[in-house]
Order: sequence, then C-alpha cells, then structure tokens
Amino acid sequence: MSDSDKTAELEFNDTSLGLPILSPTLGPDAIDIRRLYADGGVFTYDPGFTSTASCKSTITYIDGLKGELLYRGYPIEQLAEKSHYLEVCYLLLYGELPTAAELEDFEARITRHTMVHEQMNYFFRGFRRDAHPMAIMVGVVGAMSAFYPDSTDVTDPRQREIASIRMIAKMPTIAAMAYKYSLGQPFVYPRNDLDYASNFLRMCFSVPAEDYEVNPILARAMDRIFTLHADHEQNASTSTVRLSGSSGANPFACIAAGIACLWGPAHGGANQAALEMLKEIGSVDRIPEYIARAKDKSDPFRLMGFGHRVYKNFDPRARVMKQSADEVLDLLGIENNETLKVAKELERIALEDEYFQEKKLFPNVDFYSGIILEAMGFPTSMFTPIFAVSRTVGWIAQWKEMISDPEQKIGRPRQLYIGAPKRDYVDVENR
Ligand code: CMC
Repeated sequence: MSDSDKTAELEFNDTSLGLPILSPTLGPDAIDIRRLYADGGVFTYDPGFTSTASCKSTITYIDGLKGELLYRGYPIEQLAEKSHYLEVCYLLLYGELPTAAELEDFEARITRHTMVHEQMNYFFRGFRRDAHPMAIMVGVVGAMSAFYPDSTDVTDPRQREIASIRMIAKMPTIAAMAYKYSLGQPFVYPRNDLDYASNFLRMCFSVPAEDYEVNPILARAMDRIFTLHADHEQNASTSTVRLSGSSGANPFACIAAGIACLWGPAHGGANQAALEMLKEIGSVDRIPEYIARAKDKSDPFRLMGFGHRVYKNFDPRARVMKQSADEVLDLLGIENNETLKVAKELERIALEDEYFQEKKLFPNVDFYSGIILEAMGFPTSMFTPIFAVSRTVGWIAQWKEMISDPEQKIGRPRQLYIGAPKRDYVDVENR
C-alpha cells in the first residue's frame, strides 16, 4: 500500500479540509477520514458500512465486479483445485504457501490438538437434545476459554498461536459432537491418521457398532467446501470477531461472537435457508411463483443463496460449488436429483430476469453447497456449523492481524442521535 500525496478536498459550512487518499494494492482508493471529527467536528454516516473500510488487511481480496476472490493473492479457483484446506489455513495464517516441511509440521500440530478436554463431554449434556447445533457451537466455543485458560492472554504471541491451533483443530470435533448429541449417539473421538476432512466425516457418521469407511471422493468434496468458505475479507462475522477482539477479549470469546453472527440467514444461515427454499419450491413448474414473490416489494421473501453485498457478478465460489455438486451427485450415483434440477432452473430463470439483472443478483456460495452436504448425509441444521468450522481459520487470521496492527484501536462507531432532545424527568403521578 502506498500513502499517496493526493488529498480529497472537503468543504462544508466554513471549513475546508484536505483528507489524505490511501491507495491499496488492489481495489479502490480510500479517503482517510480519521481526523474528520477532530479537525472538522463532523461524523460520516454509513449504516451497514457500504462505503467504509474498517481496517487495512493483507489476507483476502474480493473484486465484486469481476467476481474474483483471492486468498493472499492466490485465486480461489486455483486453491480449490490444486490445494487443500490445511495448506490454505497455513497460507491464510502465515501469509505464504508452506514448504513441504512447514506443511508437515503444521498438519502435525493441528492433528495433535483435535481432541477436546474430556470434561467438555459433560458440558454438552447441559443442552437440550433438540438444540440447534449452532446454539451449541456458540456456547461450547465460548466456553473454551474456561477449558483452556492457558491460551487466553492476547498480549502473549505464543498463547495467541496456541489458541489459534486449538480452535482450528477442535472446531470439527465440536461440530461433530453437536451433531452426535442431537442424534442421541455417543461422541466419536478424532483419529490422527485421517486428514482433516475425513476425520470430520468419520466423527459425524461413524458409530461404535459399525465403523464408517470414509469415501475419498466425499472427503475431497468436504475439503473443498472448507477451502471455499475459509475467509471472505470484512464480512459481518469477521467484523464481529475483529470488533470483539478490539476490546482485548480472549480469542475463544471472539470466535464465539463470530459464530453467533454467522448464524443469521442473511449470512452463513443462508445455506440452510437456501436448501429449505429449494425443497419448498419442490418442482421446476413452481419456480415462476417464487421468482414473482422475490420481486414483490410487499413480500419479505428473498431468493436465498442469491445476491451479495460485494459480488455484483458471479460469486466465484458458487461456480466451483456448482461443479462440485454435479461431481458428487454423479459419483454417488444420485440421478435425477429434483433439488439440483430446481436449483439449476431457478438460476437460469433468475439470471435471465430483468429484476435480477438490474440489481446484479447472482447465485452465491450458499446456493449449491446445501445440495452437496445433503448428498453426504448431513441434515440442514448442520450446514451452518460446517460453514463455522471452515471460517474459523479466516476469523483467526483476521483477529491475529488486528491484534498486531499498530493502528488498531477499540472499535467504537459514532451515531446520529435522532431521539428526544434533553428533557426533565416527570414524576409518575404527573405523566
Ligand atoms: N432476492 C430478491 N431480491 C434481493 C435479494 C434476493 N436474494 N438480494 C437482494 N435483493 C434486492 C433487494 O430487495 C434490494 O432491492 P431494492 O434496491 O429495490 O430495495 C436490492 O436487491 C439490494 O439488496 P440489499 O438488501 O440492499 O443488499 P445488501 O448488500 O444489503 O444484502 C444480502 C446482501 C446477501 C444480505 C442479500 O442479497 C440477501 O439477503 N440475500 C439472500 C441471503 C443470502 O443468500 N445470503 C448469503 C450471502 S453469501 C454467504 C455469506 O456471506 O454468508
């Protein structure tokens, strides 16, 4: 990044300010307004941060117009095809692709931390059996600070590193435990001879009475889902993690806050909502009815898995996911999948529709992921927990970047107060 000599001149009332313009490696310039209130006595107003960069970052870059996503400069399509999730985790955390020795060491460190504290088993039992696995994830990940208090000091780089490894390693175990708990089945311990994705599938689908043979094709598809969701610059949950972390809160509490934010249907909850919507539509002939509803301003219905704040072109993750859905269903011998048919036809009709074209609404990552996850045997309630497992590394990389950023301050937005002006208290008998 270069801090150019260029300034933006801002004139208002009797004040004239020269605001520095910052030029990033990629993407539009940003006007540095940090001195605006101190020098000009005014705030900016930007609900939803549609025009506000909240930090400088070196991790992920999205070009919404081109439909491009880069992790540390590498296109997501190349990583999805040639790399694998733990290598991508290393890349996101440390900035460069690992050497063979670095990768081996990193994989060994992750693998040795996959078990959770035995006492956690009892913690799970406090939840109702029918609790949504995301509710359990928020609670259990937040509680990790109680089980691992030796890695909560955010001022100690070593503790930050240990907490990071612990979370990436244990998140699949916790998500699988949440699933097993909902089924009334015993928890399955991780196995160190399996890769990250295979281990997760086995912890979800194996039972003591019958072992589970991990299908390598499904493991590859699972790994690709993890990779595609690993990071996505300053999205709502990542910003939540950064904001939580800006107060110095411990990393487990921050990631729990990220999981809570991810759960919403406008964010990570959309994968569950998208598959439920496709099933509700049920058959191709009912699509026009739902397209009409999505366009009707008086109807709150939206096409789930469609649209994005940043992408105004195809979400590149959706392209890979669509191809992966075809491959997985094909390889599993699932022919004539009605949901996939509805998804493809819905996409085709929407992309030809003036409303969706005008508003630049394209399928996003959540549109096809549910079809793959369902084919693997997951219920819809597990879709968002799987997103949380994948995104943990992104949250952590962003949290670590924030902690070591010398410009970092506690996040504290201002507001436009539009409430009652100052007034005197009235005793209850006089109201
Ligand atoms: N179906 C129908 N209309 C839509 C949709 C949709 N899915 N998405 C946006 N619009 C319309 C919206 O009504 C608005 O119209 P108008 O300008 O006439 O008021 C316009 O498009 C812009 O929408 P917005 O809500 O102002 O845009 P946003 O950037 O605030 O919201 C979004 C982005 C992803 C929340 C939204 O597109 C949405 O709700 N999509 C469905 C949920 C979804 O799939 N979320 C997953 C996002 S990708 C994965 C992730 O980040 O977790």
